[in-house]
Amino acid sequence: MNNITAAITSVHGYVPEKKLTNADLEKMVDTNDEWIVSRTGIKERRIVSKGQALSDLGAEVVKGICKKRGISPKEIDMIIVGTITADYRFPSASNIICDKVGATNAWGFDVNAACSGFLFTLETGKQFIENESAQKVIVIGGDIMSSIVNYKDRTTCILFGDGAGGVLLEPDTEGYGIKDSILKVDGSGRNSLVQKIGGSKEPVTKENAESEGMYMFQDGQTVFKHAVRNMADVSAEIMKKNNLSSEDVAYLVPHQANLRIIDATTRRMGLDKDKVMINIQKYGNTTSGTIPLCLWEWEDKLKKGDNIVLAAFGGGFTWGAIYIKWAYDTKK
Ligand code: UT7
Repeated sequence: MNNITAAITSVHGYVPEKKLTNADLEKMVDTNDEWIVSRTGIKERRIVSKGQALSDLGAEVVKGICKKRGISPKEIDMIIVGTITADYRFPSASNIICDKVGATNAWGFDVNAACSGFLFTLETGKQFIENESAQKVIVIGGDIMSSIVNYKDRTTCILFGDGAGGVLLEPDTEGYGIKDSILKVDGSGRNSLVQKIGGSKEPVTKENAESEGMYMFQDGQTVFKHAVRNMADVSAEIMKKNNLSSEDVAYLVPHQANLRIIDATTRRMGLDKDKVMINIQKYGNTTSGTIPLCLWEWEDKLKKGDNIVLAAFGGGFTWGAIYIKWAYDTKK
Protein backbone atom coordinates (compact mmCIF):
# COMPACT_ATOMS: atom_id res chain seq x y z
CA MET A 1 0.00 0.00 0.00
CA ASN A 2 1.29 3.48 -0.86
CA ASN A 3 1.16 6.30 1.69
CA ILE A 4 -0.74 8.72 -0.52
CA THR A 5 -3.68 10.57 1.00
CA ALA A 6 -6.17 12.82 -0.82
CA ALA A 7 -5.69 16.37 0.46
CA ILE A 8 -7.99 19.32 -0.11
CA THR A 9 -5.76 22.00 -1.66
CA SER A 10 -8.35 24.62 -2.62
CA VAL A 11 -12.00 25.48 -1.95
CA HIS A 12 -14.52 27.69 -3.67
CA GLY A 13 -18.23 28.37 -3.49
CA TYR A 14 -20.94 30.11 -5.42
CA VAL A 15 -24.40 31.31 -4.40
CA PRO A 16 -26.85 33.18 -6.63
CA GLU A 17 -27.40 36.86 -5.86
CA LYS A 18 -31.18 36.80 -5.46
CA LYS A 19 -32.37 36.47 -1.83
CA LEU A 20 -35.63 34.88 -0.67
CA THR A 21 -36.24 36.13 2.87
CA ASN A 22 -38.65 34.93 5.53
CA ALA A 23 -40.63 38.13 4.92
CA ASP A 24 -40.96 37.16 1.23
CA LEU A 25 -42.23 33.70 2.23
CA GLU A 26 -44.80 35.26 4.60
CA LYS A 27 -46.43 36.69 1.47
CA MET A 28 -46.45 33.31 -0.30
CA VAL A 29 -47.62 30.81 2.37
CA ASP A 30 -49.14 30.82 5.86
CA THR A 31 -45.91 31.16 7.86
CA ASN A 32 -43.97 33.73 9.86
CA ASP A 33 -40.39 34.73 10.59
CA GLU A 34 -40.62 33.76 14.26
CA TRP A 35 -41.72 30.16 13.44
CA ILE A 36 -39.08 29.69 10.76
CA VAL A 37 -36.20 31.07 12.85
CA SER A 38 -37.13 29.24 16.06
CA ARG A 39 -37.78 25.87 14.33
CA THR A 40 -34.95 25.93 11.78
CA GLY A 41 -32.54 28.87 12.27
CA ILE A 42 -33.08 30.05 8.69
CA LYS A 43 -33.54 33.77 7.86
CA GLU A 44 -33.00 33.81 4.10
CA ARG A 45 -31.89 31.66 1.18
CA ARG A 46 -30.46 32.30 -2.30
CA ILE A 47 -32.47 31.48 -5.43
CA VAL A 48 -31.21 31.23 -9.02
CA SER A 49 -32.44 33.53 -11.75
CA LYS A 50 -34.38 32.08 -14.67
CA GLY A 51 -32.21 29.95 -16.93
CA GLN A 52 -29.41 29.47 -14.38
CA ALA A 53 -28.72 25.72 -14.06
CA LEU A 54 -26.63 23.57 -11.74
CA SER A 55 -23.79 23.43 -14.30
CA ASP A 56 -23.60 27.26 -14.22
CA LEU A 57 -23.07 27.20 -10.46
CA GLY A 58 -20.61 24.31 -10.76
CA ALA A 59 -18.65 26.07 -13.52
CA GLU A 60 -18.19 29.12 -11.26
CA VAL A 61 -16.88 26.84 -8.52
CA VAL A 62 -14.35 25.18 -10.87
CA LYS A 63 -13.20 28.54 -12.29
CA GLY A 64 -12.71 29.88 -8.76
CA ILE A 65 -10.71 26.83 -7.68
CA CYS A 66 -8.45 26.99 -10.77
CA LYS A 67 -7.82 30.70 -10.23
CA LYS A 68 -6.98 30.30 -6.53
CA ARG A 69 -4.72 27.30 -7.12
CA GLY A 70 -3.15 28.82 -10.23
CA ILE A 71 -3.94 25.90 -12.50
CA SER A 72 -5.50 25.59 -15.95
CA PRO A 73 -8.79 23.64 -16.33
CA LYS A 74 -6.84 21.45 -18.76
CA GLU A 75 -4.86 20.06 -15.78
CA ILE A 76 -8.01 18.66 -14.13
CA ASP A 77 -8.30 14.86 -14.38
CA MET A 78 -11.84 14.48 -13.02
CA ILE A 79 -14.87 16.51 -11.97
CA ILE A 80 -17.34 14.64 -9.76
CA VAL A 81 -20.62 16.32 -8.81
CA GLY A 82 -22.91 15.47 -5.90
CA THR A 83 -26.40 16.68 -6.77
CA ILE A 84 -30.05 15.70 -7.07
CA THR A 85 -30.87 18.66 -9.31
CA ALA A 86 -28.58 18.36 -12.33
CA ASP A 87 -29.50 20.34 -15.46
CA TYR A 88 -31.08 17.21 -17.00
CA ARG A 89 -31.78 13.62 -15.96
CA PHE A 90 -28.99 13.03 -18.44
CA PRO A 91 -26.36 13.97 -19.48
CA SER A 92 -24.65 14.54 -16.16
CA ALA A 93 -23.87 17.98 -14.76
CA SER A 94 -20.22 16.88 -14.65
CA ASN A 95 -20.13 16.52 -18.46
CA ILE A 96 -21.59 19.97 -18.95
CA ILE A 97 -19.31 21.62 -16.39
CA CYS A 98 -16.24 20.09 -18.07
CA ASP A 99 -17.40 21.64 -21.34
CA LYS A 100 -18.24 25.05 -19.84
CA VAL A 101 -14.85 25.49 -18.12
CA GLY A 102 -12.70 23.91 -20.85
CA ALA A 103 -11.65 20.91 -18.78
CA THR A 104 -10.94 19.03 -21.98
CA ASN A 105 -8.74 16.36 -20.36
CA ALA A 106 -11.18 15.53 -17.56
CA TRP A 107 -13.87 12.92 -17.18
CA GLY A 108 -16.48 12.60 -14.48
CA PHE A 109 -19.97 11.75 -13.35
CA ASP A 110 -22.70 12.75 -10.91
CA VAL A 111 -23.42 11.13 -7.55
CA ASN A 112 -26.94 11.02 -6.12
CA ALA A 113 -26.95 10.90 -2.32
CA ALA A 114 -29.26 13.84 -1.52
CA CYS A 115 -28.02 15.88 1.46
CA SER A 116 -25.06 13.53 1.97
CA GLY A 117 -24.04 14.14 -1.65
CA PHE A 118 -20.85 16.02 -0.87
CA LEU A 119 -19.62 13.36 1.58
CA PHE A 120 -20.32 10.51 -0.84
CA THR A 121 -18.67 12.44 -3.67
CA LEU A 122 -15.62 13.34 -1.59
CA GLU A 123 -15.12 9.70 -0.61
CA THR A 124 -15.45 8.70 -4.29
CA GLY A 125 -12.92 11.33 -5.46
CA LYS A 126 -10.50 10.21 -2.75
CA GLN A 127 -10.26 6.72 -4.26
CA PHE A 128 -8.90 8.01 -7.58
CA ILE A 129 -6.19 10.05 -5.83
CA GLU A 130 -5.18 7.25 -3.47
CA ASN A 131 -4.91 4.64 -6.23
CA GLU A 132 -2.89 7.16 -8.28
CA SER A 133 -5.17 7.10 -11.31
CA ALA A 134 -5.77 10.87 -10.95
CA GLN A 135 -3.69 13.80 -9.71
CA LYS A 136 -6.28 16.58 -9.68
CA VAL A 137 -9.90 15.77 -8.86
CA ILE A 138 -12.50 18.48 -8.33
CA VAL A 139 -15.38 17.41 -6.12
CA ILE A 140 -18.49 19.59 -6.21
CA GLY A 141 -21.62 19.54 -4.07
CA GLY A 142 -24.50 21.70 -5.16
CA ASP A 143 -28.22 21.89 -5.71
CA ILE A 144 -30.87 24.13 -7.17
CA MET A 145 -33.59 23.13 -4.73
CA SER A 146 -35.88 25.90 -6.01
CA SER A 147 -36.33 23.73 -9.13
CA ILE A 148 -38.12 20.98 -7.15
CA VAL A 149 -39.62 22.86 -4.17
CA ASN A 150 -43.38 23.39 -4.02
CA TYR A 151 -43.79 27.06 -3.07
CA LYS A 152 -47.35 26.31 -1.91
CA ASP A 153 -46.12 23.82 0.72
CA ARG A 154 -45.12 25.74 3.86
CA THR A 155 -43.53 22.68 5.44
CA THR A 156 -40.77 22.46 2.80
CA CYS A 157 -40.50 25.78 0.95
CA ILE A 158 -39.12 27.60 3.97
CA LEU A 159 -36.20 25.18 4.27
CA PHE A 160 -34.37 25.05 0.97
CA GLY A 161 -32.13 27.27 -1.15
CA ASP A 162 -29.71 27.14 -4.09
CA GLY A 163 -25.91 27.06 -4.06
CA ALA A 164 -22.79 25.03 -4.78
CA GLY A 165 -19.29 24.59 -3.48
CA GLY A 166 -16.35 22.39 -4.25
CA VAL A 167 -12.81 21.37 -3.40
CA LEU A 168 -9.70 20.32 -5.30
CA LEU A 169 -8.19 17.00 -4.20
CA GLU A 170 -4.50 16.34 -4.80
CA PRO A 171 -2.08 13.64 -3.55
CA ASP A 172 -0.25 14.24 -0.26
CA THR A 173 2.51 12.14 1.27
CA GLU A 174 2.73 13.83 4.68
CA GLY A 175 -0.52 12.50 6.10
CA TYR A 176 -2.78 15.47 5.41
CA GLY A 177 -6.19 15.13 3.79
CA ILE A 178 -9.02 12.63 4.12
CA LYS A 179 -8.13 10.33 7.03
CA ASP A 180 -11.30 8.31 7.56
CA SER A 181 -14.94 8.06 6.60
CA ILE A 182 -18.08 6.29 7.74
CA LEU A 183 -20.90 6.38 5.18
CA LYS A 184 -24.29 4.69 5.50
CA VAL A 185 -27.55 4.17 3.61
CA ASP A 186 -30.97 2.89 4.63
CA GLY A 187 -33.33 2.63 1.66
CA SER A 188 -36.31 1.83 3.90
CA GLY A 189 -36.47 5.61 4.47
CA ARG A 190 -37.03 6.30 0.78
CA ASN A 191 -40.63 7.46 1.14
CA SER A 192 -39.89 10.06 3.84
CA LEU A 193 -37.93 12.39 1.56
CA VAL A 194 -38.56 11.92 -2.13
CA GLN A 195 -39.53 13.40 -5.47
CA LYS A 196 -42.14 10.81 -6.49
CA ILE A 197 -42.81 11.66 -10.12
CA GLY A 198 -40.31 11.93 -12.94
CA GLY A 199 -38.32 8.73 -12.43
CA SER A 200 -38.81 5.30 -13.98
CA LYS A 201 -41.28 4.24 -11.25
CA GLU A 202 -43.72 7.05 -12.06
CA PRO A 203 -42.78 8.83 -15.28
CA VAL A 204 -44.35 12.21 -16.06
CA THR A 205 -47.68 11.87 -17.87
CA LYS A 206 -50.35 14.32 -18.98
CA GLU A 207 -52.41 13.25 -15.95
CA ASN A 208 -49.76 13.74 -13.23
CA ALA A 209 -47.75 16.62 -14.70
CA GLU A 210 -49.39 19.22 -12.49
CA SER A 211 -49.70 17.14 -9.33
CA GLU A 212 -47.77 17.68 -6.07
CA GLY A 213 -45.71 14.54 -6.74
CA MET A 214 -43.70 16.59 -9.24
CA TYR A 215 -42.11 18.38 -6.29
CA MET A 216 -40.00 17.13 -3.43
CA PHE A 217 -41.94 15.71 -0.47
CA GLN A 218 -40.67 15.48 3.11
CA ASP A 219 -42.20 13.90 6.20
CA GLY A 220 -40.38 16.43 8.39
CA GLN A 221 -40.84 14.82 11.79
CA THR A 222 -39.68 11.36 10.67
CA VAL A 223 -36.63 12.79 8.90
CA PHE A 224 -35.89 14.97 11.92
CA LYS A 225 -35.88 12.02 14.32
CA HIS A 226 -33.56 9.95 12.10
CA ALA A 227 -31.31 12.95 11.39
CA VAL A 228 -30.81 13.91 15.03
CA ARG A 229 -29.91 10.37 16.06
CA ASN A 230 -27.83 9.29 13.07
CA MET A 231 -25.83 12.47 12.47
CA ALA A 232 -24.88 12.67 16.15
CA ASP A 233 -24.11 8.92 16.36
CA VAL A 234 -21.91 8.82 13.27
CA SER A 235 -19.99 11.94 14.33
CA ALA A 236 -19.29 10.45 17.77
CA GLU A 237 -18.37 7.14 16.09
CA ILE A 238 -15.73 8.69 13.81
CA MET A 239 -14.20 10.57 16.77
CA LYS A 240 -13.96 7.38 18.82
CA LYS A 241 -12.57 5.37 15.90
CA ASN A 242 -9.78 7.93 15.44
CA ASN A 243 -9.14 8.62 19.14
CA LEU A 244 -10.21 12.24 18.78
CA SER A 245 -11.32 14.11 21.90
CA SER A 246 -13.47 17.23 21.66
CA GLU A 247 -10.26 19.27 22.25
CA ASP A 248 -8.63 17.59 19.25
CA VAL A 249 -11.41 18.66 16.86
CA ALA A 250 -10.87 22.14 15.40
CA TYR A 251 -14.19 22.28 13.52
CA LEU A 252 -17.38 20.37 12.91
CA VAL A 253 -18.79 21.05 9.44
CA PRO A 254 -22.40 19.88 9.68
CA HIS A 255 -24.97 19.61 6.92
CA GLN A 256 -27.19 22.68 7.31
CA ALA A 257 -30.74 21.27 7.45
CA ASN A 258 -31.91 22.55 10.81
CA LEU A 259 -30.09 24.38 13.62
CA ARG A 260 -31.65 22.00 16.15
CA ILE A 261 -30.07 18.98 14.40
CA ILE A 262 -26.70 20.79 14.32
CA ASP A 263 -26.99 21.61 18.05
CA ALA A 264 -27.72 17.97 18.92
CA THR A 265 -24.61 16.82 17.02
CA THR A 266 -22.49 19.56 18.64
CA ARG A 267 -23.61 18.47 22.13
CA ARG A 268 -22.99 14.80 21.38
CA MET A 269 -19.42 15.58 20.23
CA GLY A 270 -18.87 17.75 23.32
CA LEU A 271 -17.81 20.72 21.20
CA ASP A 272 -17.95 24.43 22.01
CA LYS A 273 -20.28 26.30 19.69
CA ASP A 274 -17.45 28.37 18.22
CA LYS A 275 -16.04 25.17 16.70
CA VAL A 276 -19.12 24.63 14.55
CA MET A 277 -19.52 26.09 11.06
CA ILE A 278 -23.04 27.49 10.69
CA ASN A 279 -24.37 29.55 7.78
CA ILE A 280 -27.90 28.11 7.61
CA GLN A 281 -29.31 31.55 8.50
CA LYS A 282 -28.05 32.94 5.15
CA TYR A 283 -28.45 30.04 2.73
CA GLY A 284 -30.96 27.57 4.22
CA ASN A 285 -30.55 23.96 3.14
CA THR A 286 -28.75 23.75 -0.21
CA THR A 287 -28.67 19.92 0.02
CA SER A 288 -25.28 18.81 -1.42
CA GLY A 289 -24.04 22.40 -1.28
CA THR A 290 -24.09 23.03 2.46
CA ILE A 291 -20.76 21.48 3.54
CA PRO A 292 -18.51 22.88 0.78
CA LEU A 293 -20.16 26.30 1.17
CA CYS A 294 -19.17 26.23 4.85
CA LEU A 295 -15.59 25.22 4.02
CA TRP A 296 -15.44 28.09 1.52
CA GLU A 297 -16.64 30.65 4.05
CA TRP A 298 -14.35 29.38 6.83
CA GLU A 299 -11.29 28.73 4.62
CA ASP A 300 -9.40 31.76 5.96
CA LYS A 301 -9.71 30.51 9.54
CA LEU A 302 -8.49 26.97 8.86
CA LYS A 303 -4.93 26.07 9.74
CA LYS A 304 -2.67 23.34 8.39
CA GLY A 305 -3.07 20.30 10.64
CA ASP A 306 -6.56 21.18 11.91
CA ASN A 307 -8.74 18.13 12.56
CA ILE A 308 -12.10 18.65 10.88
CA VAL A 309 -15.19 16.44 10.99
CA LEU A 310 -17.79 16.72 8.21
CA ALA A 311 -21.21 15.20 8.97
CA ALA A 312 -24.49 14.92 7.09
CA PHE A 313 -27.88 13.21 6.99
CA GLY A 314 -30.30 13.24 4.08
CA GLY A 315 -32.87 11.63 1.84
CA GLY A 316 -32.51 7.97 1.01
CA PHE A 317 -31.76 7.76 3.88
CA THR A 318 -28.07 8.54 3.50
CA TRP A 319 -25.70 9.74 6.20
CA GLY A 320 -22.12 9.75 7.33
CA ALA A 321 -19.05 11.53 8.64
CA ILE A 322 -15.60 12.22 7.19
CA TYR A 323 -12.49 13.09 9.18
CA ILE A 324 -10.00 15.41 7.46
CA LYS A 325 -6.60 16.78 8.47
CA TRP A 326 -6.54 20.21 6.83
CA ALA A 327 -3.58 20.55 4.44
CA TYR A 328 -2.83 24.27 4.11
CA ASP A 329 -2.81 27.73 5.64
CA THR A 330 -4.64 30.29 3.54
CA LYS A 331 -2.54 33.24 2.41
CA LYS A 332 -4.36 36.30 3.73
O1 UT7 B 1 -31.61 17.92 4.63
C1 UT7 B 1 -32.30 16.72 4.54
C2 UT7 B 1 -32.80 16.29 5.82
N1 UT7 B 1 -33.86 17.13 6.26
C3 UT7 B 1 -33.98 17.45 7.52
O2 UT7 B 1 -33.11 17.11 8.28
C4 UT7 B 1 -35.20 18.19 7.96
C5 UT7 B 1 -35.77 17.50 9.17
N2 UT7 B 1 -37.03 18.07 9.68
C6 UT7 B 1 -37.09 19.32 10.23
O3 UT7 B 1 -36.12 20.05 10.19
C7 UT7 B 1 -38.36 19.71 10.93
O4 UT7 B 1 -39.18 18.59 11.09
C8 UT7 B 1 -39.17 20.83 10.19
C9 UT7 B 1 -38.40 22.13 10.28
C10 UT7 B 1 -39.41 20.43 8.75
C11 UT7 B 1 -40.50 21.03 10.90
O5 UT7 B 1 -40.29 21.36 12.28
P1 UT7 B 1 -41.10 20.58 13.40
O6 UT7 B 1 -40.70 21.18 14.69
O7 UT7 B 1 -40.86 19.10 13.21
O8 UT7 B 1 -42.57 20.99 13.09
P2 UT7 B 1 -43.83 20.03 12.84
O9 UT7 B 1 -43.75 19.40 11.51
O10 UT7 B 1 -44.01 19.15 14.04
O11 UT7 B 1 -45.00 21.08 12.82
C12 UT7 B 1 -45.38 21.81 14.01
C13 UT7 B 1 -46.53 22.75 13.66
C14 UT7 B 1 -47.65 22.08 12.88
O12 UT7 B 1 -48.87 22.67 13.29
P3 UT7 B 1 -49.84 21.91 14.33
O13 UT7 B 1 -50.19 20.60 13.68
O14 UT7 B 1 -49.03 21.73 15.57
O15 UT7 B 1 -50.98 22.86 14.48
C15 UT7 B 1 -47.37 22.48 11.44
O16 UT7 B 1 -48.52 22.49 10.65
O17 UT7 B 1 -46.03 23.80 12.82
C16 UT7 B 1 -46.85 23.88 11.63
N3 UT7 B 1 -46.00 24.33 10.53
C17 UT7 B 1 -45.75 25.62 10.28
N4 UT7 B 1 -46.18 26.77 10.88
C18 UT7 B 1 -45.73 27.94 10.38
C19 UT7 B 1 -45.32 23.57 9.63
N5 UT7 B 1 -44.63 24.38 8.79
C20 UT7 B 1 -44.89 25.64 9.17
C21 UT7 B 1 -44.48 26.89 8.69
N6 UT7 B 1 -44.90 28.01 9.31
N7 UT7 B 1 -43.64 27.03 7.63
